[in-house]
Amino acid sequence: MTATPTRSWWRERRQALLDTLGDRDCAYVYDAGTAASRARSLRAMRSVAQVFYAIKANPHPALLQAVAAEGLGFECVSRAEIGHVLQSVPGIARERLLFTPNFAPRDEYRWALESDIRVTVDNLDVLRSWTGLFRGREILLRLDTGHGHGHHEKVRTAGLHSKFGVPPEEFGELPQAAADAGATVVGLHAHAGSGHFEIAGWIDAARVLAAEAARFPVARILNLGGGLGVPDRPGEAPFDLAAFDAALAEFRAAQSRLVLWIEPGRYVVADAGVLLARVTQTKGKGAKRYVGIATGMNSLIRPALYGAWHEIVNLTRLDEPADRSCTVVGPICESGDELGTDRLLPRCEEGDVLLVANAGAYGHVMASNYNLRPPAAELVLPA
Ligand code: LLP
Repeated sequence: MTATPTRSWWRERRQALLDTLGDRDCAYVYDAGTAASRARSLRAMRSVAQVFYAIKANPHPALLQAVAAEGLGFECVSRAEIGHVLQSVPGIARERLLFTPNFAPRDEYRWALESDIRVTVDNLDVLRSWTGLFRGREILLRLDTGHGHGHHEKVRTAGLHSKFGVPPEEFGELPQAAADAGATVVGLHAHAGSGHFEIAGWIDAARVLAAEAARFPVARILNLGGGLGVPDRPGEAPFDLAAFDAALAEFRAAQSRLVLWIEPGRYVVADAGVLLARVTQTKGKGAKRYVGIATGMNSLIRPALYGAWHEIVNLTRLDEPADRSCTVVGPICESGDELGTDRLLPRCEEGDVLLVANAGAYGHVMASNYNLRPPAAELVLPA
């Protein structure tokens, strides 16, 4: 069964978005209620014991607070991310934090372990060579379950080409290495990539983890990572959370000693954010019509980096027929600075506000000051 597409919230909140933008040129605008409702649906999954929001997708404090209020924990990949959560969600319990670094310096692991934050280790070599660091500690181990998934080659994080996880040929050495390090392995982890819809991918990974967990006497946790997809195009079916839950529940029925964790980022926040930017200039060139807006790849690099497709509408003229093919570009001095190629838009004029949808995940957090143009600021829509 596939889930039914939902109508975008930003169509209903058009005026509030324009009011929030005010006289600015551009801004990311977040709807914390949307993030809260995604978080709630994840928490409602029967098969999953704990959900950790991967803050790398969007660490805005208002979103972290909304997500925390729904009972999610936080998955962090740097000391700075952990510090940011501790500051943004005062009083958050340490067991709601998870540290899953990759090739991070030894001192970050030491700090996290000494701060009683759960750490995931993804390298046999550090278990062996960082003598004493893991002694007396409970850790999780990240395994490379072999098959990467995801919307683009650059976001697939399993398989031979990827730098993540302990490779299968080393699985057999882990129990002894962990014992020698004095560490107790309480769980295993796998994250195969970002932005996919193949439920079987998580189940396959869960089977590999479950088989390996049997080698560790007290390992009970299987963290299946994140990666839950969000549709790019209007009308596409959303991720089928009910089917995911059912498949995981079926898997667990045969593995009742294990508990499942997940750590999605995009699923929680992608649709909770839009990028608004005013039209600066328009230009015709041969058959091509360009619509220039006040910010580009300095605010949202996903189209340039992954060829990601984001819906773009003219928010000022939402009711006018979108019947002109236009390429939407930013002010950055690179030909790759296209937010949308050959899109249907109404006639656009200087000062109109364009909306780039699904920009809440991996938007502002991946922005830069390229060309010394500061990226769009972040604003929160009043509830
Ligand atoms: N857990 C781990 C260990 C991860 O590395 C990631 C994402 C997640 C969870 C959350 O994945 P999500 O649920 O958000 O797909 N910049 C790319 C996505 C990179 C994802 C990196 N790791 C993009 O804009 O599509």
